[in-house]
Amino acid sequence: MTKRVFSAFKPTGHLTLGNLLGAILPAVRLQDEADCVYAVADLHALTIKHDPERLRARTREAATLLLASGLDRSLVYIQSQVPAHTELAYLLESTAYFGEMRRMIQFKEKSANQEEVRLSLLTYPALMAADILLHRVDLVPVGEDQRQHVELTRDLALRFNRLYGETFTVPEAAHPPIAARVMDLTAPTSKMGKSDGSAAGTIYLLDPAADIRRKVMRAVTDSEDEVRYDPQEKPGVSNLLTLLAVCSGQPVESLAYEGYGALKRDTAEAVVETLRPIQERHTELSADPAELSRLLADGAAQAVERTAGLVAAARVAIGLP
Ligand code: AMP
Ligand code: TRP
Repeated sequence: MTKRVFSAFKPTGHLTLGNLLGAILPAVRLQDEADCVYAVADLHALTIKHDPERLRARTREAATLLLASGLDRSLVYIQSQVPAHTELAYLLESTAYFGEMRRMIQFKEKSANQEEVRLSLLTYPALMAADILLHRVDLVPVGEDQRQHVELTRDLALRFNRLYGETFTVPEAAHPPIAARVMDLTAPTSKMGKSDGSAAGTIYLLDPAADIRRKVMRAVTDSEDEVRYDPQEKPGVSNLLTLLAVCSGQPVESLAYEGYGALKRDTAEAVVETLRPIQERHTELSADPAELSRLLADGAAQAVERTAGLVAAARVAIGLP
């Protein structure tokens, strides 16, 4: 049986190198062996303060970048164009407990010290569970930070199945063996993120080569000069080694350097070369906005069709007419 795969990316900012190495490239590789569906999770971007025009623009940019990165052999669409996501999310909110939502690390981090916490930030994992369960998938390629949300998705699927009868496939997270947590270049003990990271420490997929070189050359390391992979003791150097290994296709163990300067130069070049074809393809695709709209509308129509049966089954199981 062909495996089924789903993952999504929220357009809260420009996509980063963390997104690419932690989830997009692993998703690209899965296309060879699985039936893959990928979405831009624009509804998830409504969980924090946002600007409507910017959200619309970033949603299209994210979709373009997913295709430009090689997800062009998958079904790609925009989450909000498939109403089944919100419909199933409500059924899962009615399966989940307040206590388990409140305990999610991401909710705790993003709500800490905030006056105005949107209710959707709390219920977000139910929507994410709906995204995944809608497609009856086996595998969810995600970075390390999404581990807890996929665990919760499994719990909700199992609970729903137990209470109302076998309805959902119980999915599993798939994390890449390396780069499941790319760190901020200026604060290598924090995740590189689009909204939470620093601009100087975050490489965006559309950054010009000169910016990438500057950011990598200024990456925080440590006061020794020994190049060694040791994420605990040497988070900055280990992060650079990770980027270099993944972007150059070499195992970390094979990378030997005398000093930090040479490591940074090679890392910068490897990242620039990894992003170059993606940026070129992004420019080509952006030249034809009507074609992108058509492709996304077609993706959404296919997703509506593919998920109708599952939503109907879940409705009946939970007791709706
Ligand atoms: P997000 O941008 O938060 O929607 O994340 C989209 C995907 O990228 C998820 O699978 C995340 O786990 C992954 N991701 C985001 N940031 C990183 C990072 N710094 N390192 C590895 N994976 C990441
Ligand atoms: N919550 C994920 C993130 O912040 C994005 C996402 C939304 C997702 N729905 C998903 C990831 C479904 C995997 C599967 O990174």
